[in-house]
Amino acid sequence: MRRTKVSDIIKSEEIGKEFLVKGWVRTRRGNKNVSFIALNDGSTIHNLQIVADVEKFDEELLRRVTTGASIAVTGTLNPSQGSGQQVEILAQALDVIGDCDVNVYPLQPKKHSLEFLREIAHLRFRTNTFSAVARVRHAMIFAVHSFFSSKGFVNIHTPIITASDAEGAGEMFQVTTLDLNNLPKTDDGKVNYANDFFGKSTNLTVSGQLEGELAAMGLGEIYTFGPTFRAENSNTTRHLAEFWMIEPEMAFYELEDNMDLAEEFLKYLIKYALDNCMDDLKFLSARLQEEEKNKKAEDRSMELIEKMQFVLANDFCRLTYSEAIEILKNSKPNKKGQFKYPVEGYGVDLQSEHERYLVEKHFKKPVILTNYPKEIKAFYMKMNQDEKTVRAMDVLFPQIGEIIGGSQREENYDKLVKRMNEMNVPAEQMSWYLDTRRFGTVPHSGFGLGFERLMLFVTGMGNIRDVIPFPRTPNNAEF
Ligand code: 4AD
Ligand code: MG
Repeated sequence: MRRTKVSDIIKSEEIGKEFLVKGWVRTRRGNKNVSFIALNDGSTIHNLQIVADVEKFDEELLRRVTTGASIAVTGTLNPSQGSGQQVEILAQALDVIGDCDVNVYPLQPKKHSLEFLREIAHLRFRTNTFSAVARVRHAMIFAVHSFFSSKGFVNIHTPIITASDAEGAGEMFQVTTLDLNNLPKTDDGKVNYANDFFGKSTNLTVSGQLEGELAAMGLGEIYTFGPTFRAENSNTTRHLAEFWMIEPEMAFYELEDNMDLAEEFLKYLIKYALDNCMDDLKFLSARLQEEEKNKKAEDRSMELIEKMQFVLANDFCRLTYSEAIEILKNSKPNKKGQFKYPVEGYGVDLQSEHERYLVEKHFKKPVILTNYPKEIKAFYMKMNQDEKTVRAMDVLFPQIGEIIGGSQREENYDKLVKRMNEMNVPAEQMSWYLDTRRFGTVPHSGFGLGFERLMLFVTGMGNIRDVIPFPRTPNNAEF
């Protein structure tokens, strides 16, 4: 008989039909007459209830049906007497596929802390929270491709190993095959990268944008969706050393078009989650409310599903960096000295506390900030006429702060080279990038969505380490 997944069985109306189901035991309880087994196979947040008549089965076999064991059950579908499920399986045959010694199995049928589960990330897929997060993550990956594909964007794989620093922030992991204990040196005592694998110094990419721009300059509208790596020593709940980023890049788009696309994209993803992941979202919502029970009312976040619907229903608020600074400077927390980083005035880089104040307290909806001072943004952003600000845009979300960073790009060759020189970006090594400005240059724009930041928003999870299967952070590369 073919195996049927739990997700299909619990929706089935074929009472009396025989099914074969396989999965992992969450719990077994019962009495001397009957055993109730909660079985999960990862296809849904819901467990399937298996009812086993104790008389029908060998005592030793039933004893092996413990939390964590994998089993196969053949049985008939029955309406369930118990609350919590419509149907159950009345077991006719039962096999233990893999035993699980509960005395040493780390996952007990009780609530574990997220911190503990991070230490056993190899097993946490078997919990409700992480299986829900993983299914939502899959749905969001699928939705990203479906959104861009429906708009005629071409997906581009950009290199993971590169010699350039797209963001110019120097936060790169070096890639080398040189023997670090015996480095070849040039005459002036520097490492001789001519002897390295690629004949030059290389690193893991921080962004696929620069190559994405090249592709957009022929294909028109493209997007990348790949892993990116940043060696920034930020031990926060929103930073990973290895994260996934979606970067669309569009020829002939100016800043306004870029903002429109970013807003439409985020709303599409949120709506997709609401339309396709409701079972998991309901579970995650309840989890969040349970977690926040002890917080003061004003510190609690909005209920997850309501918050997602709220973002869908409202236009994002658009304003300039200067306007935001005025609001922040005059804000209560700034005047009362409650910000960790006080906002003194124009020119400061915004911290997450400032971004969240604007979104959560001041505007009470997502915000797109534009026209940042050139000093705090990357070299490739298009200069405004004031020569002080660049056509940047950051999308700020409740609970997260910056979820998207993007800009219109400098398409003028001379201005771009000037900016690269000012910011010590090696223009001579990036002729391939500058060529797009030499040959048929056009206005163009793009942005990057941090995929795990999106995941934080749609799952209501509080720590970015819990929305990627195997997080990479400073001092942590387990699994
Ligand atoms: O603002 P960022 O650095 O922009 C870029 O990399 C541009 N090249 C994007 C573009 O215009 N094509 O990063 C983009 C987004 C951020 O808004 C944030 O959501 C996410 O990537 N991000 C991180 N996510 C997790 N961990 C980190 N360390 C992150 N750094 C950035
Ligand atoms: Mg940014």
